Amino acid sequence: MIACWGGKILGVGPRDAIETGLEANGYPLSRFVRIDADGGVVTPGLVDPHTHLLFAGSRERELVLRQRGAGYMEILAAGGGILSTVAATRAADAEQLAAHGRRWLDEMLRHGVTTIEAKSGYGLDLQTELRLLQVAFELGKEGPVDVVPTFLGAHAVPQEYRARPDGTEAYVRSVIEEQLPGVAAQGRARSCDVFCEEGVFTASQTRRILQAAAAYGMAMRLHADELAPSGGAELAAELGAISADHLHVPSDEGLAAMAESAGGPTPTVATLLPATTWFLMTDAAPARRFIDAGVPVALGTDFNPGTSPTPNLPLVMTVACLEMKMSPAEVLAAVTINAAFAAGVGADAGSLEPGKNADLVIWRATDVGQLPYWVGADLVDTVVKRGHVVYRRGG
Ligand code: NIG
Ligand code: FE
Repeated sequence: MIACWGGKILGVGPRDAIETGLEANGYPLSRFVRIDADGGVVTPGLVDPHTHLLFAGSRERELVLRQRGAGYMEILAAGGGILSTVAATRAADAEQLAAHGRRWLDEMLRHGVTTIEAKSGYGLDLQTELRLLQVAFELGKEGPVDVVPTFLGAHAVPQEYRARPDGTEAYVRSVIEEQLPGVAAQGRARSCDVFCEEGVFTASQTRRILQAAAAYGMAMRLHADELAPSGGAELAAELGAISADHLHVPSDEGLAAMAESAGGPTPTVATLLPATTWFLMTDAAPARRFIDAGVPVALGTDFNPGTSPTPNLPLVMTVACLEMKMSPAEVLAAVTINAAFAAGVGADAGSLEPGKNADLVIWRATDVGQLPYWVGADLVDTVVKRGHVVYRRGG
């Protein structure tokens, strides 16, 4: 039995022991609402630690281009990819972005997700980045899914800087000197992310941006070694980032640096995104090497219109088992407790422990091994957020 009160978990254990404990501590047993899991598995509400929730438009044409052999960076360099989403997003007002966000948050909830991290990064100018962060914040306040906003001004060099010979450097300066102070003053972003990648932002530009963000009190995270080894894993460990994400092609040194950080007080979580490699038709991250080296591994959807248009975290659990040989127990930890730490909410979410938020999922499954096994099935029966039923199958 799991007893919850005031939106928090009070106790987890055999029914008799829990009820005796509740009575002894003066809790009115008759006022508890009973929810019968009916033999179904109960897990913590899932945490998606890497999403690009807010954007406008869609990019289904790129799937066909990639099938014909076009590379992701090639499409970006030609003004497509992230840049085409930036153009659409700049043209969208807050109400349109919020409507889009609600639609996809609802899908995530139906897949058992109760907390997400949500990046900006399709504005690439102060005004639009602030709009994205504000909408993300308000959607979280509206609930039921908690939204943790991240500033990703350094997602790409916007078109207006590309014609300049020093375009990337000029844009890095604008992120540090103009966007970051504005984002810090707004106070919505809890962390800062950078797309550290060959041909996007170098490790040293990433270091400058993240150190500036840390000085404003933001946590650090990065898109690291997604398409080529770019020093991202090494940098994440060096800076004490809360998460290094993607890591499809980390260097041996990067892996070793993250393993060393895992032994310290603030390990950098390796947030792996196997739906992205699946959708890009490339090789998945070496999850087993991270796990075997003692690095905590989380899994996210990377929900975005270019490389991973899926809100379905249970599907990602399946892909992680198939493509990265993670065990069902490892994938469950990766979308709960490890994901919570990667999202920066490890103290409040991600496990069924007294004092944490009463965020629970009842599954139509009798063993956790079935969650990744029934591929693409709709297994969520009931979702509880802070002690309230917020989704019931067929309800
Ligand atoms: O995580 N790599 C950078 N960002 C996203 C893709 C964004 C896009 O293509 O729109 C990612 O894969
Ligand atoms: Fe991403």
